[in-house]
Amino acid sequence: MADTSKLWWRNGVIYQIYPRSFKDSNGDGIGDLRGIIEKMDYLTDTLGVDAIWLSPFYKSPMADFGYDVADYTDVDPMFGTLADFDDLIAAAHKRNLRIVVDFVPNHSSDMHPWFIQSRSSRTNPKADWYVWRDAKNGAEPNNWRAVFGGSAWSYDARRGQFYLHSFLPEQPDLNWRNPDVRAAMYDALRFWMRRGVDGFRVDVAHFLMKDPDYRDNPVNPPNTLAFENFKVFGEYDLQEHKHDKGHPDNHMVYREFRAVLNEFEEQSPRYSVGEIHIFDWDEWATYYGTDDELHMPFNFALIGAKWAAQTVREVVENVERVLSKGQWPNYVFSNHDEHRISARYGEYAARTMMMALLTLRGTPTMYYGDELGMKDGMIPPGMEQDPWGKRVPGLGLGRDPERTPMQWDALPNAGFTPAAVKPWLPVTEDYQRTNVAVELIDPTSMLSLTRALIKLRKTTPALHSGSYRTVTGVPDDTYVYVREGAGERYLIALNFSQEERSISVPELSAGRLVLSTLVNREEAVAGTVKLTANEGCIVKLG
Ligand code: GLC
Ligand code: CA
Repeated sequence: MADTSKLWWRNGVIYQIYPRSFKDSNGDGIGDLRGIIEKMDYLTDTLGVDAIWLSPFYKSPMADFGYDVADYTDVDPMFGTLADFDDLIAAAHKRNLRIVVDFVPNHSSDMHPWFIQSRSSRTNPKADWYVWRDAKNGAEPNNWRAVFGGSAWSYDARRGQFYLHSFLPEQPDLNWRNPDVRAAMYDALRFWMRRGVDGFRVDVAHFLMKDPDYRDNPVNPPNTLAFENFKVFGEYDLQEHKHDKGHPDNHMVYREFRAVLNEFEEQSPRYSVGEIHIFDWDEWATYYGTDDELHMPFNFALIGAKWAAQTVREVVENVERVLSKGQWPNYVFSNHDEHRISARYGEYAARTMMMALLTLRGTPTMYYGDELGMKDGMIPPGMEQDPWGKRVPGLGLGRDPERTPMQWDALPNAGFTPAAVKPWLPVTEDYQRTNVAVELIDPTSMLSLTRALIKLRKTTPALHSGSYRTVTGVPDDTYVYVREGAGERYLIALNFSQEERSISVPELSAGRLVLSTLVNREEAVAGTVKLTANEGCIVKLG
């Protein structure tokens, strides 16, 4: 590898690929590893991202589309083979693109040989590898609910006991208090690092350790949901999740986990990011440890946050306040579990959000298709796939709308899979307008904006590693900040309102507007910047 900079995960842009939906190389309607290899030019040359995170491609019965792993060290035939994975790593590393893979430690599939053995008796060698409990007064051991609906406990007649599943019954929770389980899971990490994997995204990272006494969760006090845009979980939200997740013992696990990553650090720098939905900022930040736990816990606040200047600013200021030196911030704008940015805010606000994502201090994690402004898909009746949507009343289509195939061109099936093939989910309705081929030749497209933002961020130390400061004295429905580094200052002005807004602050006495979210102007600035509805601008100061 040419560039061994330790800081790739700080200064770079991470791009999430949902492998089922990125590119189908063999015409079965499902994306696969060779499809990703085919699109390597797009990732590194067209977009210019620094790393890709792949959602699970492991052997799986696909009850939760790969988040139910039946073998932690093999590729599902649907996605390819281990040899394909090795080719993917080689192709990526040749171009200095890092590979982050999903690690799903909280639960395996019920078809994993470990669980099949564990459920076979109370005395087998793996009997204690999952969370087994006796019935309490003839019923479930406690009141814990599954994220995907229903009790978190299922009864197994052979053992005469309940097993815990925080998600589907097909996803039994591993017993992380058992050192043999931890050792086996750490070996899976080593397996992928030996193959060259640069980092891990840890699925539901704060779920691993449960209350050892399995106490009931208290009832949730009403109106404690701080963010309005997240999907609703139904009855799961009616409890305060005091005992089933976020246990302080998780920190011991992440110290061990980090030590395993450190074994490989000398060879090349490794990275870890945890999926942690905690919105008490001080508690959230504990998952960094003292640079001895996760490299960072994902910051999802801007997914849930209302799209309003003061709300977004507050999130950023909280993050800046809570992190101590050396703890690196990050922002996620959407993923395979939440509505896409264009669906949440509309086309123009989505552009402004993209500008924020790529100019704030901290690592941006972008979801495939958001660079095009892809919308949430409409899923015709009978084509629903997501088990969560099917189980929880009121959730509607679940997570299918944000998982539709990547839109490469204006041909039928958007170039994801051949025209005659039925893709696993349909492409969105506006694919003829919103796709890579069409947007590449339109200098004002969302893709052109995203490319320009990534390029600017990459080549500008102030933007990828400089300091952050909020600028005050601006209209309430705008958000303005300055990034400074390597002797340069950039001011970013974002208009959240539907009307024109004018920004006049001392910083703007002299400068040059270098990029607008409409990608339609560059001009000198002397005192004031006028923003149209929902427009964002970057001004190089001085
Ligand atoms: C995480 C994943 C989600 C999955 C769940 C269970 O939230 O992002 O897609 O269904 O964990 O593994
Ligand atoms: Ca395929």
